[in-house]
Amino acid sequence: MQVGLEKIVVLGSGGTIAGTAASATDSRDYRAAQKPVVDLLAGLPVPAGCELLSEQVAQIDSKDMDLAVWQKLLQRCLHWLAQPGVRGLVITHGTDTLEETAYLLQTVLAPRKPVVLTCAMRPATALDADGPQNLLDALAVAACEGAQGVVAVSAGRILGPQDVQKVHSWRLDAFSAGEAGDIGRVRHGRIERWRDWPQPVVPQETLLEALLSAVALPRVEIVLSHAAACAATVDALADPAVAERYGAPPLQGLVLAGTGGGTVHRELEAALRRAQAAGVRVLRSTRCADGMLQSRPGDEFPVAPGLSPVKARLALMLELLAP
Ligand code: SIN
Repeated sequence: MQVGLEKIVVLGSGGTIAGTAASATDSRDYRAAQKPVVDLLAGLPVPAGCELLSEQVAQIDSKDMDLAVWQKLLQRCLHWLAQPGVRGLVITHGTDTLEETAYLLQTVLAPRKPVVLTCAMRPATALDADGPQNLLDALAVAACEGAQGVVAVSAGRILGPQDVQKVHSWRLDAFSAGEAGDIGRVRHGRIERWRDWPQPVVPQETLLEALLSAVALPRVEIVLSHAAACAATVDALADPAVAERYGAPPLQGLVLAGTGGGTVHRELEAALRRAQAAGVRVLRSTRCADGMLQSRPGDEFPVAPGLSPVKARLALMLELLAP
């Protein structure tokens, strides 16, 4: 460790960026979360004035993200962000739930230093792997003067935690911030920025404590409204006897991924009303990728403005968890 250099700490959590396949030409049949984060950094240039530290926090396919990994990630972020010599953090993460981790970290930490999530669509063993460039770009963002908050960096784009969404199942440029737009770009190691960095807010210490000590997250499910919908889905979700049969906690919240402007099939609407009357919190979002919902006076089911269904679910879980 050299004196005078600022530290960028890279936390590994798994994903395709750490994935391996049997052949360098295979980007389809591979196993995510195999390579240690220290190996992903080997040979990468270090931003000027910085040194890199790394830590393996988890090694998972992010489809399996859970409370325990989030708690560990939060604890390590808190630890490193509190060190005066640390300039910023980079987290290597799977693409599949990166947007949920980004939203969660920003909501509970809202850090004054940059926390940059990055990922890859091709495994580390691929001839044309995208992970090394994404990691390099993420390090440039973490080292950038004035950068702050949780952001995602992929395919040269810098995206905000509220807006970032995986929108493509195989393209390298798989993320979008929708009509909110990107925060900026990383090109040849330089940052071009068009929007503000995510703003730090007063730390939600009691929420953070509740989250760190929780043994489970409040149970909140997502219901998609579609043509020819059937009320039985919602009734079964809200039925305490069904939950008990499966050893699941009773339902506390439902997020509606509504059609268009957050509308709902009449069958589901009646069932959502029954669930709400039984004490289940219902929050409305839209299955459209763009077009922020607006609340209206007298809304029967409150809206989650600007949040995709998965993020609205997290917002509701955090609200239910808050002391
Ligand atoms: C994952 O999300 O961990 C696997 C898929 C990916 O990283 O692209």
